Amino acid sequence: AADIQDDLTDILVTEEEIHAKLEELAAQVATDYSGKDLLLVGVLKGAVMVMADFSRRLPMNASMDWMAVSSYGASTKSSGVVQIRKDLDTDLHGKHVLIVEDIIDSGLTLSWLLENFESRGAESIEVLALLRKPEAAKVQIDCKYVGFDIPNEFVVGYGLDYAESYRNLRDVAVLAPHVYS
Ligand code: PRP
Ligand code: MN
Ligand code: MG
Repeated sequence: AADIQDDLTDILVTEEEIHAKLEELAAQVATDYSGKDLLLVGVLKGAVMVMADFSRRLPMNASMDWMAVSSYGASTKSSGVVQIRKDLDTDLHGKHVLIVEDIIDSGLTLSWLLENFESRGAESIEVLALLRKPEAAKVQIDCKYVGFDIPNEFVVGYGLDYAESYRNLRDVAVLAPHVYS
């Protein structure tokens, strides 16, 4: 296989920067949810790394569940159609839900998820996203905890994929256009 570095242009956010940011966000979340019954909901598959690193920095008890949805498939553009591949196992009634995402791009996935969750009786619903692309927003998402605002480029790594590859990169990097054009 070719060297993975040939598929990338700039590194946008390093592993160290990510960890430092998650440490900050975890302290903030612990303060905000002190004394509350917190449920972290990770959005598979992209949010696996964020969930693992964020939740272990959280200095409080929290339960964890996963929802698998997908809208990108093997494309760099959102299809706009969100499919549930795995639903939650948890009843949201009375729970304080914090959705954990890797990235808000067009915002379509989260807007769909938030609407889907509203009817399930949660006590509160907030969003934590490691990355956000303000220039790509098609719908506005009210995201309480944001790691980094990034430019409108297709990024991979730290959970983010292109056609299921690159999720295991340690940093977040821009995918070289020759890979997908
Ligand atoms: C990616 C990413 C977010 C979503 C963001 O997931 O992990 O969940 O797209 O894009 P949006 O704001 O334009 O909706 P994807 O559908 O690729 O599934 P994956 O997490 O399994 O890679
Ligand atoms: Mn995803
Ligand atoms: Mg994807």
